[in-house]
Amino acid sequence: MRADILVLPGDGIGPEVTAAAVTVLRTIAERRGHEFTFTERLIGGAAIDATGEPLPADTLAAAKKADAVLLGAVGGPKWSDPQAKVRPEQGLLAIRKALGLFANLRPVQPHPVAFSASPIKPHLLQGVDLIVVRELTGGIYFGEKTRTADSASDLCTYSVGEIERVIRHACHLAMTRSRRVTSVDKANVLETSRLWREVASRIVRDEFPEIELENQLVDSMAMHLLARPREYDVIVTENMFGDILTDEASMLAGSLGLLPSASLGEGRVGLYEPIHGSAPDIAGKGIANPYAAILSVALLLRHSLGLDDEANCIEQAVASALAAGNLTADLAGGTSAIGTQAATRAVIDHFPLPCQVAELRD
Ligand code: NAD
Ligand code: IPM
Ligand code: MN
Repeated sequence: MRADILVLPGDGIGPEVTAAAVTVLRTIAERRGHEFTFTERLIGGAAIDATGEPLPADTLAAAKKADAVLLGAVGGPKWSDPQAKVRPEQGLLAIRKALGLFANLRPVQPHPVAFSASPIKPHLLQGVDLIVVRELTGGIYFGEKTRTADSASDLCTYSVGEIERVIRHACHLAMTRSRRVTSVDKANVLETSRLWREVASRIVRDEFPEIELENQLVDSMAMHLLARPREYDVIVTENMFGDILTDEASMLAGSLGLLPSASLGEGRVGLYEPIHGSAPDIAGKGIANPYAAILSVALLLRHSLGLDDEANCIEQAVASALAAGNLTADLAGGTSAIGTQAATRAVIDHFPLPCQVAELRD
């Protein structure tokens, strides 16, 4: 298959982890006889430095033309002045919005070899396999913002349509899994959450009667997620709650450097990125964990290109590389750690057999 993939490395460790993910994609393309072309564009702080804008027009145009977009991370101390007029993060929000990517899938499947990197007891992590569907283009992130000398405001708004489409997305996903959905809100306080709960309950009742829906308040959800993670399957929630809960959920997996994401909408193009940020504290050292970015390209192969075998191949290879003890510093604790490039090599070395030879495909 032919595919044009747009790569947006961004800032901090973004370029390091996207380089790793592209290496894996190139390798899989070679071995399975695909023709992937890679184009790079600027986003975030790197784009501000070069053009003054966090999402230059030619980056967005390239994204609209691509078959899929791979993004590293944006942001960092250089652009974090609270008085700054433009910020790297605006570029990320703008591309998500412009591409209509309202559903952000963040799977969490702790790997036994990383149990020791998690602060949670191993017996609670065994068998955890959940996926958070985070609403990505609405809520407080996109409401009107105002600022005066002595006050500031961020408006949180959701329309029925915005809630319906992400709940439906979560329900379709749940139909392929255990048919259980947990919808997370703060309906005891927020009007947007009361609407959210009403819409979620209606969509499930009218359109997905086979699904068991649980409505959960976000504060207790934050607790349950750590206390009994195995009991969750599909968790659907609004933009900011999903952002926070998934960084929390990364501690089930052992590191932020392990969680990938896929941002999807009704349009053709999907965007794939690790959930972590630009990690300024470790940028440029060659020690960033590339597994989240590599697992993000597995999601890219599955959701944008329909290449399930190749996606499974990458996921199995990451699991095998981890099982063989290829741990980056965030996972290794006090023991010896490998760098970004060695971890990338380990994934390629652990491709399962059907991924090695193109001929075996048919
Ligand atoms: P962060 O995710 O960058 O880092 C949090 C901690 O996790 C740091 O200690 C970091 O070293 C570690 N970490 C993150 N990814 C890692 C990896 N792959 N391997 C090893 N360790 C890793 O969050 P932060 O420090 O709160 O934010 C830094 C900057 O990143 C901010 O400007 C923020 O806006 C931005 N950010 C961007 C994205 C994105 O582009 N999608 C996501 C989150 C944060
Ligand atoms: C993420 C990040 C972004 C978000 C920021 C950088 C805008 O934290 O992708 O999780 O909050 O969505
Ligand atoms: Mn985040």
